[in-house]
Amino acid sequence: MQRNDREFFNALAESWDTTRAHDPARLRELIARTGIGSGDTVLDIGCGTGVLIPFLRERVGDSGCVLGIDIADNMVELAAGKLARFDNVAVRRADIMEFSTDCQFQHVTCLNFFPHIQDRPTFLRKVIGEWLAPGGTLHVFHDISRARVNAIHGESKTVKEDRLPPCGEVGELFRAAGFILEACFETDESYFVQGRKPAMP
Ligand SMILES: C[S@@+](CC[C@H](N)C(=O)[O-])C[C@H]1O[C@@H](n2cnc3c(N)ncnc32)[C@H](O)[C@@H]1O
Repeated sequence: MQRNDREFFNALAESWDTTRAHDPARLRELIARTGIGSGDTVLDIGCGTGVLIPFLRERVGDSGCVLGIDIADNMVELAAGKLARFDNVAVRRADIMEFSTDCQFQHVTCLNFFPHIQDRPTFLRKVIGEWLAPGGTLHVFHDISRARVNAIHGESKTVKEDRLPPCGEVGELFRAAGFILEACFETDESYFVQGRKPAMP
C-alpha cells in the first residue's frame, strides 16, 4: 500500500502538543545557535502544530516574518489558531516537495522533520536553489537524540524507515548540495546541522 504521510500526521495532530512535549529551554538554546535575528525572514518546514514558531517570532521581532509549511491540514489548522495573534506569521498547507514561492528566505528551519524526507538530495537542492537567499542558512535540528528519534520511528508502521543518520552523513549531503557546512553535532539530547548558501554563486 502506498504511504500516506498526510493522513498519518493528520491523525497525530490533536495529541501532538501533549504527547510530544518540547522543552522550551532546549528549543531556545538550539535557536540561539542559528543566528536568526531581528528583521529576518524564516521558512519553517514541517512546522506541525507550530511548536517552533513562537520562538522564531521572538527572534525576528515585529520587522521579520515567519512562514510555516506542513503537509497535514490538522497540524496547519492547530498552528494557525495558536499563531493568529502575530500578523507577521503565516502557516500554509503544502507538500514541501511540491512547494514553490516567489520569496527567498534568510533562514530555513527543520525541527524534527528531516527524517521524513525521502529524496534528501533533491530536497537540499530545492532549499539552496529556490528558497534560500544568497548567504542564507539551513538548520536541521532535533530537540531529542538521534537514537531516540530512530527508536520512536522504529515503533511506527508508517515512518519506521525514516531514519535520522549520524550528523556527519547529513553534513556530507549538505556539502554535496553546495552548502558551506557551519555546524554539525549531536548529543544525548539534541542534533544540529547548519549550512550556508554561498553569498556569491
Ligand atoms: C515529527 S513532526 C514535527 C513537527 C514540528 N516541527 C515539531 O517539532 O513539533 C513532522 C512534521 O512534518 C510534516 N511533514 C511530513 N512530510 C512533509 C512534507 N512532505 N511536506 C510538508 N510537511 C511534511 C508532518 O505533517 C509533521 O507535522
